[in-house]
This record gives sequence, C-alpha cells and structure tokens, in this order.
Amino acid sequence: MNKPRETFNSRMGMLMAMAGSAIGLGNIWRFPYMMGRNGGAAFILIYIIMLVVLCLPVMVSEYLIGRRGGFNPFSSFDRLAPGSKWRWIGFLAVLSSACILSFYCVVGGWSVKYLLDSCTLAFSNPHSDYAAAFGGFIGSPFKPLLYTLIFLGLTGLIIVFGVHKGIERMSKIMITVLFVIIVLVVVRSLTLPGAVDGVRYMFVPDFSKVTAGTCISAMGQAFFSLSIGCGTILTYASYVSKQENILASSAWISFFDTLFAIIAGLAIIPAVYAIAYMNGVEPDVSAGPGLVFITLPGVFSQMPLGGVVAILFFLALLLAALTSAISLMEVVVAFIIEELRRSRARAVLMSFLVCGVVGVFCSLSFGPLEGFKLFGLSVFDFFDYITSNIMLPVGGLLLAVFAGWRLKRANYLDELTNGGKLNIPRWLALTIYYLVKLVAPVGISLIFLNCLFS
Ligand code: PHE
Repeated sequence: MNKPRETFNSRMGMLMAMAGSAIGLGNIWRFPYMMGRNGGAAFILIYIIMLVVLCLPVMVSEYLIGRRGGFNPFSSFDRLAPGSKWRWIGFLAVLSSACILSFYCVVGGWSVKYLLDSCTLAFSNPHSDYAAAFGGFIGSPFKPLLYTLIFLGLTGLIIVFGVHKGIERMSKIMITVLFVIIVLVVVRSLTLPGAVDGVRYMFVPDFSKVTAGTCISAMGQAFFSLSIGCGTILTYASYVSKQENILASSAWISFFDTLFAIIAGLAIIPAVYAIAYMNGVEPDVSAGPGLVFITLPGVFSQMPLGGVVAILFFLALLLAALTSAISLMEVVVAFIIEELRRSRARAVLMSFLVCGVVGVFCSLSFGPLEGFKLFGLSVFDFFDYITSNIMLPVGGLLLAVFAGWRLKRANYLDELTNGGKLNIPRWLALTIYYLVKLVAPVGISLIFLNCLFS
C-alpha cells in the first residue's frame, strides 16, 4: 500500500485545517441555543470541564493514533494492532463521518440558499413571516435537494485538489475570512440598544437550570464541536509531520473552537435581545435551528445595516459549514483511496454519490417524506441523533480504550513527546495518559448509560 504522500505544508495550515473542522454549524447554531436552554454561563462552565477532562484526552489520543498510524482510520488501527479486530473501530469512524456528512450537507445547503437570499435583500422586510418562508423552503420537494447537492459539490471540489492545495489552502483562507466577518457581526450586535441584557444572559450563570441532562448535552456538544470520535482528527493527523507537538496542537484547537462558540453567541444572542426589546416582546434564544434560519432573518430585517450584516452572517455560516464538511468527506475519501485503491477524483465522486443519496433522503424528510420514520424519528433526526448521541461517544470511548489499553504506555508517551524531544513535563504526559486510560472510558460510559436509560 502506498503511504499518502501528501502532508500539510505548514504548522499554521495544519492548525487552521483542524480548527476549521472543529468550527462549524455546531458552534454557530447549536452552542448558543444549548447555552440558552441550560443556564447560560453555567453551561459554559460544565462544557469546559467536560472538554478538559474527557474530550481533550480523547482528542490527543485520536491525533496520536493518526500520526503514528499514518493512514486512514481503518489502516491506522491495523498498523498499530496488526491483524486485530481493532481496525473495525476505524471502519466505524469512516461510517460515522459519512453519516454526519449526509445530514450536515442538508443544513450546509440551507446556508447556501440563505446567503443567496440575503444578497437579493430577501431579509429586508420586517413584516415578512420568516417562519413560514423557512418552513415552505425546507418542505418543498426540489429546492432543498438542489442546495444540498450544491453544498456537497463545493465540498468535493475543494477536496479534489488534495491535502495541501485543496484542504490546507482553502481552510486557511476560509477560517481567516470567517474570523474577520464574525467579529464585524459581533460589533454590530453589541452596539444595538438593549444588547447588554443578552450579554448578561450569556455570562451570568443560572445553576437552577443545570440537571444531569446538562452534563449529557455538554458532553455530546463537546464531542460534536471538537470533531472527535469519527476519524476526522485522525485522518488529518496522518498528514502531520513528526515534529509537531500533539498536546499543544490539541489544546490550541480546543481553545480556538470554544472561543469561537462564545464569539458566535455574542454575534447572535445580544442582537436577538435588542430587537425583541425594541418590539416589546420577550427574547427567545432557545429556538434550536429556527434561531438561525427564522429568528435571525427577522432580526436582520429590523436592524440598521441589517442587509449587510445578513450577507456577512450567512457567508460566515457557509464558510464554517464548508471547512467542517471537507474534513468529514476527507475521512471517506482517504479510506476509498487507500483501501479500495481508487484515484482521489474517483474517491471524491463516490463519496459525493453515497452522501448525496442519503442527504437527499434527509432533506426530503422535511417535505414529501415527512411521514417516513426510522425508530420514530424522521430520516434527518435519525442521522443527527445516532451520530451525535451514539456513534461519536462510542467512537471516542473505543478510541480511548484502544489508546489506554492496547497501545503500550511507553509507545503512547513516546509519540506524545516526539520520542522524548519535546519538553513535556512527565507528570503532565502521565496525567493525559491516565485520563485516557481510566477517566475517559468510565466518564463516557457513565454519561452514556445515564442517557440511554433516561
Ligand atoms: N465540529 C463540527 C461542527 O461544530 C461538526 C463535525 C463533527 C465535523 C464531527 C467533523 C466531525 O459543526
């Protein structure tokens, strides 16, 4: 088998690609409303504890397995535990990525449509019924499919150019633009009269809303938002040089991702508060997907400079979704290239077709296929639910068990410290190792069982 010849060309490029994978729809629409439902700053606090104790160690391990393995998830596990069944964890990861991409591209498609709409000033009438418009759009049998496929096509187009020219270069550009845009939107949002109440809502903790469910939501959100448990970090890490500091990179990506989620909250929540007060109604920031596609268009239509802000915001949403989608598709593409021995172009085409077909079903579940249920859930909700709540935590759990119990401790520490060349204090390396070996498996299992039985 040929080793993937390509690597990331620079540390900055690698960090931007991985941060691009992490920063996505999860940060822009999920985090703000999760926070809204679970006690604002109290949720941030629990989220950060989950992040440091469970998710960061899993991320470090996924990174480590990918870099040491040097292939797609399936072969990486096979190389580290030759001939064993462990490689099926790798296969599960590829499957998870394909499943996530299949519903992710539907929402990605909505962001394409909303960006085009904002360019034609569709969100300038304060009296429009944006809820009806959104419902009408996602329920129609043809349009959303078209946008889903456009989004998936854009994703494939970037990946065809390969790791360096496609993924690395485009992630660097897109993440930089994304940051500039979101800061502009934050400035607009915070300078609206009444915005300060939204900020207070975000940063004053309300512990009365914290329940066991909050911990589950925080863990699920942290896995999803950091892109761990489904082989994206692993695959990207297989393109990383042996000189990089795994621990520092993982910490940096987690920090960047969390910071971005909070910034995205500041772009959205204060604006929603300000406009609600202007209209004399109670602000509602716990509206789920509707927050971005229904509430915000209404908010944009009423704020000064709203037309420009709408374009910037939906462009940011699209860029964030794209950088995540390319990381998901790359997992499937790397698998096809190395295991089925197809060219990159063919692998992209095959991934496009598979995820496109499932994506079409997900998309239709808001319209003609509304009545069709899998285990009581619509096709879209089914894929969303089984990936975020089951496949990612199970993937993360198996990864931690593999790293902690199957890899030798000496090998784990050797890879973490680049063969002793890095100056990582021994207590820190050992803490990470034991978090992975003991705390992460127990913690994830407990939360997971609690979730299944409640
Ligand atoms: N982290 C991405 C987001 O926040 C979603 C994602 C999950 C991407 C898993 C890759 C793998 O939107």
